[in-house]
Amino acid sequence: MSDQINTFCSNEELQLLASGITPGYASAPYQFTHGKGVFLFDQDGKDYIDFCAGTFTNSLGHAHPEAVKFMQARLAELWNVHDYSTPFRLKLLRQLNALTPGHIDTFQFYSGGSETIEAGLRALTSFLPATRKKITSFTGSYHGKTLGARQLWHCGFPGEPPSDITQLPFPDGFGLSDAEKKEYEKTCLKTIESCFANNPSIGAIVFEPILGSGGNLQGSISFWNSFDALCKQYSILKFVDEICVGFGRTGYDFAFQRYAIEPDLIAFAKGLGGGFPTMCLAGRKEIMNAKPFGARGGASTTFGGNPLSIAAMHITLKIYNEEKLAANALALESILQEGIRMLAKKYSSIFDFRVSGLMATLCLNKNSTQYTNEFAMRLHQSCLAQGVKVMTFDHLFRIAPPLNINSAELQLGLSRLASAFDRAEKETQMDCPQEFSYSDA
Ligand SMILES: Cc1ncc(COP(=O)(O)O)c(C=O)c1O
Repeated sequence: MSDQINTFCSNEELQLLASGITPGYASAPYQFTHGKGVFLFDQDGKDYIDFCAGTFTNSLGHAHPEAVKFMQARLAELWNVHDYSTPFRLKLLRQLNALTPGHIDTFQFYSGGSETIEAGLRALTSFLPATRKKITSFTGSYHGKTLGARQLWHCGFPGEPPSDITQLPFPDGFGLSDAEKKEYEKTCLKTIESCFANNPSIGAIVFEPILGSGGNLQGSISFWNSFDALCKQYSILKFVDEICVGFGRTGYDFAFQRYAIEPDLIAFAKGLGGGFPTMCLAGRKEIMNAKPFGARGGASTTFGGNPLSIAAMHITLKIYNEEKLAANALALESILQEGIRMLAKKYSSIFDFRVSGLMATLCLNKNSTQYTNEFAMRLHQSCLAQGVKVMTFDHLFRIAPPLNINSAELQLGLSRLASAFDRAEKETQMDCPQEFSYSDA
């Protein structure tokens, strides 16, 4: 078990973990007992702002009264009928038809993200001709932890065979000036074009329109326009992974709408079930129905689209539309942006940050003399102590509150973050060279 996990565990929990539970992402020396809106509560009644909405999942926060009432009624009705239709599945299909672009007209449901990516890969390889079945991806992307998904992002787990998937450069422009970014995007586009031209066996690309786990990295609209045109020119199908950035997270129903990308297949979304384990694969009929994927039993799974997860998607989507949650995310973007800019100016441990809608990534300064994984973990703990729950991974510090957060709650979370940075930096006596600090000059 890693030290990272130890820091967050009570002795009692450590004993249990040691006896056979594989460490997950994080735990804490207390238990969350319930939630209400954007707040979580522990067994002592202390509140925490859930600044990562479960894990980008709880679009409606916790225990939304209408969703709870609806789901309680569904619990008493039907739990699993495999792939058979139900009244709410019909309603949900109508809702999804309205949510997705007109040419996306066929849907299938899954329980997790990696499973949905694998299903999409099966659909693509069923549809593509024998000579064009290779699928590419972007560097820095994340698509899940199952075998096919891992191959896409070259995760390099120890002992794993190297992936033979050719990856394309993502124009992150990290640390570059605007002019340098433009040049870099052109270089990326040239590399992408030569890859398509020289590898006719590539028939599709899987990509996130904004790299979520990669650090909220974004290309420009002009990059995506040129990329879209290249895909058309070389007949490359676009499988858009919206698992992290879809369903209102960036202020649009789908992040690809920020860039007018036209997808052939979409995997989405962590937030669609409001926290219930459920995902959707959506695509053009001819891809989704291509055999063997589209043959009887080719696309279905044990739990995918069970009545309870269908109900969770239906009610979440209904409330998402009624409460205009994508618009809320877009409206609050400037408050989040400004709040984080103030943090970055004040705290030298922050090197850079990026915000899109209600999704932000702060990059901690790996170049400061005091930066260590211990500092990152201390900061994480300091956040919990100050009553704000965030996601941290290595030097990336991620924020994604429920989509129905209001501006007062967002400001409260930001001020708790400031206290957490204050405390963690004081304890570490951060001393960062000027050239490695954030500057908005
Ligand atoms: C973009 C993206 N794709 C795929 C996945 C994998 O999802 P899961 O962890 O549910 O398998 C994730 C999870 O974070 C993700 O962010």
